[in-house]
Amino acid sequence: MEVINNIKQLRESLAKHRKEGRSVGLVPTMGALHEGHASLVRRSVEENDVTVVSVFLNPTQFNDPKDLERYPRTLDADCRLLEECGADIVFAPTVKEIYPEPDTRQFSYPPTDSVMEGAMRPGHFNGVCQIVSKLFMYVEPDRAYFGEKDYQQIAVIRRMAEDLGFKLEIVPCPVIRQEDGLAMSSRNTLLSAKERKTAANIYRVMNESRSLGLSVQQTHDYVVSELNGIDGLEVQYFSIVDGDTLADVGSWDDAPSIVGCITVFCGKKPIRLIDHIRYK
Ligand code: PAF
Repeated sequence: MEVINNIKQLRESLAKHRKEGRSVGLVPTMGALHEGHASLVRRSVEENDVTVVSVFLNPTQFNDPKDLERYPRTLDADCRLLEECGADIVFAPTVKEIYPEPDTRQFSYPPTDSVMEGAMRPGHFNGVCQIVSKLFMYVEPDRAYFGEKDYQQIAVIRRMAEDLGFKLEIVPCPVIRQEDGLAMSSRNTLLSAKERKTAANIYRVMNESRSLGLSVQQTHDYVVSELNGIDGLEVQYFSIVDGDTLADVGSWDDAPSIVGCITVFCGKKPIRLIDHIRYK
């Protein structure tokens, strides 16, 4: 496995593989890797001749500097996991390498990037589009793998890739959950043991809500009031939306695919946890 820190070397290494006609899979990450990331890497290794994993804590997608500061940085452990998973290239550049000058590009794909996370974290998806478009330009992958845990992120990246005409397949990969249902996330390591247990209620309640036969509004209210009733949890938003456009739905008949997207503050610090559930 090669660990590369600069764009020139990355391009040279990939040019050799391309010359041999090898397909390339890209798994963009911000590090602090866990089993969820490992599943994306394993899938890319299965489906491509060469797998590139980027490990880059992208500052432009953090609108809260404290959140960026707190984000775990574990490159050595990440490389060990990636080697085990069979990755070929780890691209771990510095911020200066990626942004020698501030990136002034503006991306805007409403409603996908303006609702939910887009409304709560202004500029977040612009930062995601800045880094992901750069990675697509450097790596020119045949396929790029993203976890469905960040459901809205995939919808935004699809729009960006269509808009900029990137010729690649975006491969959404299912959420990996712990035994009690909590979606795997790098942020889980920031929770205390007690908070970690409390956080499992997020999936439990959303999952329960699927079988109650309630209307969309009642389902929304059920999930929010159940979770807010648990000590240590506070729902920031729960939106039941069209699974493709992310526009709000008022009835279960409004769209062929419907998902509930949630963000919950957990614990004292507090840690912001994201999850979603498919209703149809
Ligand atoms: O999902 C993430 O970890 C990040 O948003 C991504 C796609 C790696 C871009 O920094």
